[in-house]
Amino acid sequence: MERTLSIIKPDAVSRHITGKVNAMIEDAGLKIVAQKLIRLTQAQAEEFYEEHKEKAFFGGLVEYMTSAPIVVQVLEGENAVAEYRKIMGATNPAVAEEGTIRKTFALSITQNSVHGSDSPESARREISFFFSQIEIVS
Ligand code: CMP
Repeated sequence: MERTLSIIKPDAVSRHITGKVNAMIEDAGLKIVAQKLIRLTQAQAEEFYEEHKEKAFFGGLVEYMTSAPIVVQVLEGENAVAEYRKIMGATNPAVAEEGTIRKTFALSITQNSVHGSDSPESARREISFFFSQIEIVS
């Protein structure tokens, strides 16, 4: 069993499709073991995405992720990190595969509806960034 951190981003939460995204996650066999609606501050978004701070898109990414509420979740399942990345689809929805969350819902590479941890190590850091042990149901 593995856990991964998922974010349902502002474009999806504001279009009221959290339930549709959750249905795709659950249909793929991943279990939602923690979930909450939050609004990131600029400092929190900058820290969460610190690995991208030198990238040209960093400012726009932080501005976007703080623009409206997001849903943060912990997903659990076998190979949860890789499985979730598979059902999310490519970062750029223009090249994402049919049937993936991003192909179905994303609006652009920035407004790409969901985030998922890129490795088990990132998952551990990202889960503890948002959740304490007591908030995660085993
Ligand atoms: P996410 O999985 O949240 O991780 C970093 C985010 O940066 C990514 O999704 C995209 O939304 C965004 N991103 C990655 N590459 C680019 C890019 N070339 N231009 C704009 N945004 C990008």
